[in-house]
Amino acid sequence: MGSLGELCLKANREAEVLSGVKATHQGAENEELEVARDYDAWLSQETLLARWMRFWLSPQRTVWLNTPVRWLPEAISLRPTDRVLDIGCGYGGVLIYLQRRAGITAAMEGLDCTAIIVERGRKEVLSRGLQDKINLRLGVATDLPYPDASRDVVLCTYVIKHMSDTLLRQMLLEIRRVLKPGGRFCLWEAAPSRYQFMQSWNEKLLRKGLTSNVHLRSLEQLRTFMEEAGFTDLRPYGIGLYYYYPPLPRAGFIASNPAV
Ligand SMILES: C[S@@+](CC[C@H](N)C(=O)[O-])C[C@H]1O[C@@H](n2cnc3c(N)ncnc32)[C@H](O)[C@@H]1O
Repeated sequence: MGSLGELCLKANREAEVLSGVKATHQGAENEELEVARDYDAWLSQETLLARWMRFWLSPQRTVWLNTPVRWLPEAISLRPTDRVLDIGCGYGGVLIYLQRRAGITAAMEGLDCTAIIVERGRKEVLSRGLQDKINLRLGVATDLPYPDASRDVVLCTYVIKHMSDTLLRQMLLEIRRVLKPGGRFCLWEAAPSRYQFMQSWNEKLLRKGLTSNVHLRSLEQLRTFMEEAGFTDLRPYGIGLYYYYPPLPRAGFIASNPAV
């Protein structure tokens, strides 16, 4: 086994014991493992902060934290037969919401690098009787375990702050690979504030509980990454005032995967 594989296994041993989820991190970059370790360590605690985070990640709170999801079915013309993939899916809240709102009949997929999150997400899905409709698995954004041109829609909400520029570029290329030609991609994330006070407050808030870096990008920076990766028809999305919580600036886009 190569050193990368060994690293992956080592980083996830504890998480596997905790969750019983088999690690599939063979292709992971170290940075991604660091994020997974952070979330695993943090969310398994019983501190006030960990409880607070679990509260906000739970599917009942999805439309508060992920407010743009409310308009997403119309914005991306979501069809019941669309095959949807959510990268960094957390507890599956976005998928659960969309499954109900848009009456999706095709199986939906969620992928997350944190074992303890995937485990809890599966319980959330099971408790709603959606286990045949939503499948959550452990994995990393830069090495998607899905065939080429197999998805109609890919989502990625509040994840890319955990990714360096290099990882972000790798993930965007992976997304283009798994999307069908004409498939739609939507992402959103917290953005930098132009007010210094707000900026340091936001960074502090987003870094809480994490040792890994937080990367905030403006709409224009994000546009450059997406265009460089080859996405077309870019439309800013989810950046208006209709965020309920938290009151942070956001950057987001809906884009198309052009035919090659
Ligand atoms: C702030 S949470 C957002 C969860 C969910 N998308 C939502 O909006 O509620 C970020 C999630 O991204 C996951 N994540 C971060 N980096 C990742 C990567 N490189 N690959 C897969 N998942 C990742 C974390 O484990 C965590 O569950």
